Amino acid sequence: MGKIILTGDRPTGRLHLGHYVGSLRGRVELQNSGDFSEIYIMIADAQALTDNAEDPGKIRESILEVALDYLAAGIDPEKSVVLIQSQISELFELTCYYMNLVTVARLERNPTVKTEIKMRAFDQSIPVGFFTYPISQAADITAFQATTVPVGEDQAPMLEQTREIVHKFNSVYGDTLVMPDILLPEKKIWSRLPGTDGKAKMSKSLGNCIYLSDPAEDVKQKVNSMYTDPDHIRVSDPGKIEGNVVFTYLDAFASDQHFVDLLPEYNNLAELKEHYQRGGLGDVKVKKFLTQVLETELGPIRERRNEWQGRIPEVVGVLEAGTAKARIKAAKTLQHVKAAMQIDYFDQSPLIEGFFNLNNLSGC
Ligand code: TRP
Repeated sequence: MGKIILTGDRPTGRLHLGHYVGSLRGRVELQNSGDFSEIYIMIADAQALTDNAEDPGKIRESILEVALDYLAAGIDPEKSVVLIQSQISELFELTCYYMNLVTVARLERNPTVKTEIKMRAFDQSIPVGFFTYPISQAADITAFQATTVPVGEDQAPMLEQTREIVHKFNSVYGDTLVMPDILLPEKKIWSRLPGTDGKAKMSKSLGNCIYLSDPAEDVKQKVNSMYTDPDHIRVSDPGKIEGNVVFTYLDAFASDQHFVDLLPEYNNLAELKEHYQRGGLGDVKVKKFLTQVLETELGPIRERRNEWQGRIPEVVGVLEAGTAKARIKAAKTLQHVKAAMQIDYFDQSPLIEGFFNLNNLSGC
């Protein structure tokens, strides 16, 4: 059996650089590596609704935005199946059965859910659907028999929860579900790209994002307004790297080749940092370099997005075909799950056989 990828995003707006380095860029590489026999990429609209129940319009509008971001970033519908979560009801049946294998206390310990609850100021009014979304995410992953889940570090608790469910299910009902592994981005900084304000992770609600679809002018303006070192006033002043968002972004995006192509006075980022710390290097120059570095990545993405934007019916077709294909796979897994749980009453008539055996009768 080949290796299978499942990963996804919540459609609550356009995708940003945090999504890109945290997962999307890596997915495109994995897709093109040829190492995987099946790749599923999920637009997790049902999960997005768990904390946006009163704003279905936002989720609906974001479906095509996210799909366009995928295609723009290099997801190839010939190689990857792009699907919409809510259209695969099998996922919610699985969720329901997995719920019996997880305790409330276990969900309460999930660090990602804890942080999210705090961020959303839910207090005592946490929607049950939101609280239990890690179980639904386990259904997403296991439905496609995923071996590999490429996600950012913030999703590690979800994978842990999924692995526990798989372990529990298999030990109670027999070997049925595939045990998935997380695949983290190579560099730590790719997992937790801060927002342009440097305060927290890039997040739409904090307004600190650079979007994959941002026009070049917006990217430039966002970089120019990035937080640097407030004590670095004159060019000659020594500057700090720690907490300086421009350098954090260079850590995430700049390669030695970028220096060769765009800033040949320096060999690499270490040399640039050293100069900044010594004094004599102005923020304007570093910001200009960062803008150019980001453009080498965002330019081609923006171009592909513009192309796909003129072919929206085709994009919808990609989603419809992907969802149909994914549904077949999820249905197969659900069938295995129900058989393992002995609730496949009408599949092979074991219900009738069981009755006759129990009552010592012979069937007719
Ligand atoms: N929780 C993920 C996020 O917030 C989205 C997601 C839903 C997902 N189902 C998934 C990711 C399954 C990986 C696997 O971005």
